[in-house]
Amino acid sequence: MDAAVSLEEVVAERAGAVGVVRLNRPQALNALSYGVMEKLVTALEVFDADPEVHCLLLAGSERAFAAGADIKELEGATPVDMLRSGQMERWGRLRRLKKPLVAAVSGFALGGGCELAMCCDMVVASESAVFGQPEIDIGVMPGAGGTQRLTRAVGKVLAMEMVLAGRRLSAREALAYGLVNKVVPVEAWYDEALALAETVAKKAPLAAQLAKECVSRALDMDLETALDYERRMFYLLFASSDQKEGMKAFREKRKAAFTGS
Ligand code: CAA
Repeated sequence: MDAAVSLEEVVAERAGAVGVVRLNRPQALNALSYGVMEKLVTALEVFDADPEVHCLLLAGSERAFAAGADIKELEGATPVDMLRSGQMERWGRLRRLKKPLVAAVSGFALGGGCELAMCCDMVVASESAVFGQPEIDIGVMPGAGGTQRLTRAVGKVLAMEMVLAGRRLSAREALAYGLVNKVVPVEAWYDEALALAETVAKKAPLAAQLAKECVSRALDMDLETALDYERRMFYLLFASSDQKEGMKAFREKRKAAFTGS
């Protein structure tokens, strides 16, 4: 663990079959310092490797999901410092998580915070959530996928406005543009996100992982290759006990008891 990170800045806890990782750096609105990112990614990877965990949940606080990269840490940085920081590798590790990852977003999701939400597979937002890529206001631009994931999610002209003019989206706008799955009252933001993660955690774990992989690749492959890839993953699941159990349970009109094997 990075010496600069107190244990409390990132809190990891199990809620049944959901591995919850919570950012807890209120004095900096959960700014993603190198140390916080390392702890966050490591905690998610530990849950990703835990057979008892079937879904991951990433949450901030009510006031801020994350206000972006830690500007105070970046201010004096050189390109070499940035390369040596390993920060981009950490974003790559997030992308390689196998289990479904739900984001519970309340308050600010700006810069790297918005990029972090977009790295997740599903996003539950509170009414107070605000999404934006304000890097242009501090002399830079998004550097953790903002120009790419945002454009894929909301389309070119709105992405341009957010990246070039610093336009922020309210939770309702984010819902309308397809950046989040649902908007819930502020007091319910965490519970609703946990409920979604719990729903996913009850499904067949291997099927969920392979389905996540296929959906994640949908925009990166040409259709023919993607359909072929999907078909192979589909066939692969017929080697699992959960496929036999799921279909047998359907026939016997009972609830399936999945084991993740
Ligand atoms: N980095 C470091 N510290 C931050 C921070 C950040 N990204 N965002 C907020 N903080 C700190 C503030 O410095 C302040 O600390 P002090 O009291 O010690 O000064 C504390 O959090 C509270 O912030 P504010 O007083 O500014 O709170 P506010 O309610 O007035 O404003 C805000 C909230 C609009 C989110 C404002 O803090 C803000 O604009 N933050 C920066 C947002 C930003 O530019 N993010 C992009 C960062 S670059 C990036 O993310 C690159 C990338 O692509 C990876």
